[in-house]
Amino acid sequence: MSKPLIELSGITKSYGPVSALKGVDLTLYENEIIGLIGDNGAGKSTLIKILAGVERFDSGRMTYLGQDIEPKKYSVSTARRMGIETVFQDKSLGESQSIWRNFFMGRHLHNRLGFIRVAHEKKEAMRVLTDIIGLRGVGVSANAPVSVLSGGERQGLAIGRAMYFDARVVIMDEPTTALAVKEVEKVLGFARNLKVQGKSAIFVSHNLYHVYDVADRFLFFQHGKIRSELRKEEATPKILIDTLMKCS
Ligand SMILES: Nc1ncnc2c1ncn2[C@@H]1O[C@H](COP(=O)(O)OP(=O)(O)OP(=O)(O)O)[C@@H](O)[C@H]1O
Ligand SMILES: [Mg+2]
Repeated sequence: MSKPLIELSGITKSYGPVSALKGVDLTLYENEIIGLIGDNGAGKSTLIKILAGVERFDSGRMTYLGQDIEPKKYSVSTARRMGIETVFQDKSLGESQSIWRNFFMGRHLHNRLGFIRVAHEKKEAMRVLTDIIGLRGVGVSANAPVSVLSGGERQGLAIGRAMYFDARVVIMDEPTTALAVKEVEKVLGFARNLKVQGKSAIFVSHNLYHVYDVADRFLFFQHGKIRSELRKEEATPKILIDTLMKCS
């Protein structure tokens, strides 16, 4: 039996009068990829933001490797230091930050005097983005703000961070939306490779073929709750579509 990495029970989250999550229970096991499926507004991104440390949950319990996560002490930097890396759906996070700062955010490399090793970090960030991820765009330079990057390049930046820092859990919110075919293949390849490396992931997508391709287990969201669950052995893309229709 695999070890649980992340356990959520009874997680709720409201935005003013909008109740986005109404009690979510979810366990992510070691070396497991979960696919999150659901209509627009079902609460998938809200859950991802809670896991990533962007939003705080209102009630319920979250543990990572058996340790309770205190929402007030949990942030994107904390999550990253614990090995949870997120590829976000919306483009809002760290937009004005330079590419190299965003790459090392929360995990800067320091010299003996305690200063950030700026030149080294810039070089490392560019090495990963150009040599390993293969970004070729004109806007991709260490000092450029994240806002100049295209959708695919942003995904590449986040994936590069996950690779460089050897993330244990990678959370991807619609990583293939608005990507060219070649970039989609890269992202799906990255997700499959996580599995081979013994890592875990949560993969959110409206493209059920992409979710089917990479996930071991599928959770269907509806109105802020998980309504249905299927394991890969009991699913086909057609079954995923039919189940989604029932949860819409
Ligand atoms: N910051 C916010 N303020 C107010 N309401 C919000 C906020 N963020 C999300 N919501 C609402 O919470 C609900 C869940 O939104 P969420 O983004 O989690 O859905 P989703 O499942 O990711 O949808 P999609 O598939 O369209 O990305 C929606 O009704 C949304 O309008
Ligand atoms: Mg979303």
